[in-house]
Amino acid sequence: MEFNGKNVIITGGSSGIGKSAARIFATKGANITILARREDMLKRAVTEISSSAIDTNQKISYARVDVSNHTEVENWAGIYQKSSGSPDVIINSAGITHPGYFEEIPYETFDELMKIDFYGVLNMCRSFIPMMKAKGGHIVNISSIAGFLGVFGYTGYSAAKFAVLGFSQALRSEMKKYNIIISVLCPPDTDTPMLEWEDKIKPKETRAVAGTAGIMSPDDVAKAMIAGMIKKKFIIVPGFNGKFVLYASRLAPSLVEWIMDRQIKKAG
Ligand SMILES: NC(=O)c1ccc[n+]([C@@H]2O[C@H](COP(=O)([O-])OP(=O)(O)OC[C@H]3O[C@@H](n4cnc5c(N)ncnc54)[C@H](OP(=O)(O)O)[C@@H]3O)[C@@H](O)[C@H]2O)c1
Repeated sequence: MEFNGKNVIITGGSSGIGKSAARIFATKGANITILARREDMLKRAVTEISSSAIDTNQKISYARVDVSNHTEVENWAGIYQKSSGSPDVIINSAGITHPGYFEEIPYETFDELMKIDFYGVLNMCRSFIPMMKAKGGHIVNISSIAGFLGVFGYTGYSAAKFAVLGFSQALRSEMKKYNIIISVLCPPDTDTPMLEWEDKIKPKETRAVAGTAGIMSPDDVAKAMIAGMIKKKFIIVPGFNGKFVLYASRLAPSLVEWIMDRQIKKAG
């Protein structure tokens, strides 16, 4: 019961992996606050997450916060601290994607990907770490397999997700002395509204390469994340195929590039 009575904040907790994680934390007795922009989805998710709670004293709430806006995040962090103190766990799951051929992705989309997928993580860490230093805690930043392996069609998304990994690795060392554990979750394709949306616009080459690691359910990804957190792992890659891609890309990068190039040629 590592999470019983703990205060957990989950950005992007109204959908997909974030919502699955919130439901699992609820079954472990945690108090949960989910953040996102669309209020109707937040309300529905709170009802769903509350039904997994095991104790009537557990607090399940939401806040409308755009994580890409650092002033908004900072202001809300102050409000949270006054009502709940310092969080024990933060899961930075809020994110967007936009696959496409490099020259067809507008500049604005590159900006948006960096602002939400990378700066969203940075803004949360900047606002909450000062208050977490006193008692420690655990922060999980969600990257992707495309965050350690550049994938065709993901020039914007991979750039933002690589940034999450590099930032988190540097932060991990700095936060060790404060007992703040930093982890990065790198899921493969996961069956969520994000994947459903991107499937409609994905280049065929991206589909051929990204599908290699298989598709997982958001519940399985969230379970793997929590198992990795309990083991205090830095990089958490759910599923066998994802782990295989990680080790192969580290041990034999040229071979992985050769395989991807073949898949891309075949798809094209
Ligand atoms: N699904 C996959 O295949 C996959 C694979 C690897 C990694 N990931 C990563 O896993 C994370 C979760 O993805 P998912 O598939 O669960 O996506 P999802 O179902 O689309 O959920 C995304 C969540 O993020 C919120 N969000 C987006 N922009 C936000 C912003 N600016 N401020 C606050 N909240 C924001 C969304 O709510 P609002 O839009 O209402 O704000 C929603 O709650 C993302 O970081 C994603 O990149 C996903």
